[in-house]
Amino acid sequence: MADLLVTNATLPEGRTGIDVLVTDGRIVDVAPRIEAVAARTIDAGGLLLTPPFVDPHFHLDSTLSYGLPRVNRSGTLLEGIALWGELKPQLTQDALVERALTYCDWAVAKGLLAIRSHVDVCDPRLTAVEALLHVKERVAPYLDLQLVAFPQDGLLRSPGALDLLQRALAMGVDVVGGIPHFERTAADGAESVRLLCTIAAEQGRLVDLHCDESDDPQSRHIEMLAAQSIRLGLQGRVTGSHLTSMHSMDNYYVSKLIPLLVEGGVSAIANPLINITLQGRHDSYPKRRGMTRVPELMAAGVTVAFGHDCVLDPWYPLGSADLLEVAAMGLHVAQMTGQDAMRACFDAVTVNAATILHLDGYGIAPGNRADFVLLQARDPIEAIRLRATRLHVFRAGREIAHASPACASLDLPGRPREVDWRLRRVDAPA
Ligand code: FE2
Repeated sequence: MADLLVTNATLPEGRTGIDVLVTDGRIVDVAPRIEAVAARTIDAGGLLLTPPFVDPHFHLDSTLSYGLPRVNRSGTLLEGIALWGELKPQLTQDALVERALTYCDWAVAKGLLAIRSHVDVCDPRLTAVEALLHVKERVAPYLDLQLVAFPQDGLLRSPGALDLLQRALAMGVDVVGGIPHFERTAADGAESVRLLCTIAAEQGRLVDLHCDESDDPQSRHIEMLAAQSIRLGLQGRVTGSHLTSMHSMDNYYVSKLIPLLVEGGVSAIANPLINITLQGRHDSYPKRRGMTRVPELMAAGVTVAFGHDCVLDPWYPLGSADLLEVAAMGLHVAQMTGQDAMRACFDAVTVNAATILHLDGYGIAPGNRADFVLLQARDPIEAIRLRATRLHVFRAGREIAHASPACASLDLPGRPREVDWRLRRVDAPA
């Protein structure tokens, strides 16, 4: 007998009336009307069954630290970095682990089962690295945590950062990170990109740099990142996170840059909630949005994903591990309101992010681990509009979170007794 049968589901790419059969933690069949007996059957009722949400860009070492030791008064990126520098010497293993585990609880409840987290290596004690390696092990049964060695204070600008980054990688951190625009000069930034890509090539690792998180159109480290990817044959293994300066670059330069990203096989991660709040801070009016050129990159064939980046930390005072909120903000900031564009925003927090993380066996298909989420929405667009409730969250065929459907009771004369905000057409042709 099978373990689980989900019936009458809609899948993100649009197939409806689909059944999914699970045995021993794996998906064994995906088809209309599967005839099988299972220990548990869930009638999806036509709702959307999606692979889990994937956050491709996060900071688990700073999350849930909002207000410690004080709040960010200016709301700027640079005050956030300074504030984090004040907090860093006070960090303890126990507090880091507890905050990260709590965030992972929130994530699971939102159907977010894979996170790429940067971890600051500019600390001679490597406290955060040790803490997050421990967390990675603890959450492994229910959440895939990929860690990036991130020299927050600059690979060349911060004394000992290169050695600390190498130590973090040797300890078990997965991905090579960096922050070229934060180095003292553009030349140092370029040198940091060259060094980091060389390390990645030598050690067979992925690269994900905080790159050009700036409104300065002359911040062009992404060009160097693409060139190094080509030089070292790293295509498909390199990601530029943020790329906000691309928002402010002139169109002629971008017409050369985007094809270079394609040639370099470089992926892009926008962080819409953070970009829209941190960028444009030196502007009066008009104020730039700062988010990178998402639809243009997608149209050129670049893999683009959306990350949450921050939740309740020195850079961002809000957030709840909801990748549908991230997708909604990305959709609005990029004005991606066409039907296909809205679906692409859902892909940006699911399949595109999984591609960037090189997640194995992601998706609702036979042979893959039975990881999926039933949403209280009929399709990806409705899911984004409603930040849909995660009704059932499954990991390897086991339900690890569930929630009651969102609805409100009404007491109005002659009106329905309840609403769930889903549109039921009354004027549709019969
Ligand atoms: Fe970040």
